[in-house]
Amino acid sequence: MKKAPLLLAANWKMNLGPKAAAAFFKEFLAAYSVRHDRQVLFFPPSLSIDAIKNLTGGRPDISLGVQNIYWEESGAFTGELSASMVKETVAQYVLVGHSERRHIFGETNEECAKKCAAAEKESLTPILCVGETLEQRESGETERVVLDQLKSGLELLEDPASTVKAIAYEPVWAIGTGKTATAEDAEAIHGSIREALRGTIGESAAEISILYGGSVKPDNARQLLDQPNVDGLLVGGASLDPNSWLSICNA
Ligand code: PGA
Repeated sequence: MKKAPLLLAANWKMNLGPKAAAAFFKEFLAAYSVRHDRQVLFFPPSLSIDAIKNLTGGRPDISLGVQNIYWEESGAFTGELSASMVKETVAQYVLVGHSERRHIFGETNEECAKKCAAAEKESLTPILCVGETLEQRESGETERVVLDQLKSGLELLEDPASTVKAIAYEPVWAIGTGKTATAEDAEAIHGSIREALRGTIGESAAEISILYGGSVKPDNARQLLDQPNVDGLLVGGASLDPNSWLSICNA
């Protein structure tokens, strides 16, 4: 038996501005009933949070998060948002080190660690994203890269056992490409992540949700969720359409 609830997270990336986000939310929530075995998280563009916050109807199974933060509290950092600003909204989660942040915007493990620590300081829940590139996978470095990102990303946390509630494994070569890791490949690396977490925080590692991301679709979601160490999904493309997201949330 798997521990509940599953975490199903929609990463909208730079899609669905305030109007489109509100329309999505109305359509999705009208069709999706509360299920006690799962929690649904949305990572809209930060500008859309205000437009959807009143549409959740106070449902306990729906939470919101932001896709990125900066680690400083305030100041001359044009274009950035701080954890304390996020804390003033209804968002409770922060994605840290998504592969697009790492590979398009050049974020390093050290920067991810500072962002996780900034989230912790404001009692937000960081979801650290880790994953190898195709080149790294082909040269047999998957586990080393992933565990290194994990260890460095959590390094500055004061209380990792309380702060870390979820980690996302997203192989870079599977994101937005239509290629998914097989359920067995995902399970293997999720198992290694769990072991590494056990080394850092002990037995409470069993309670951390390890999410898989990378070309998740309605037709592969169930198989991935059936793996013992896959506790949820982080979904990009397929979370942008209310119907496909609904199928994934009901998988
Ligand atoms: P994808 O994106 O589902 O479109 O592959 C996943 C992610 O980047 O979080």
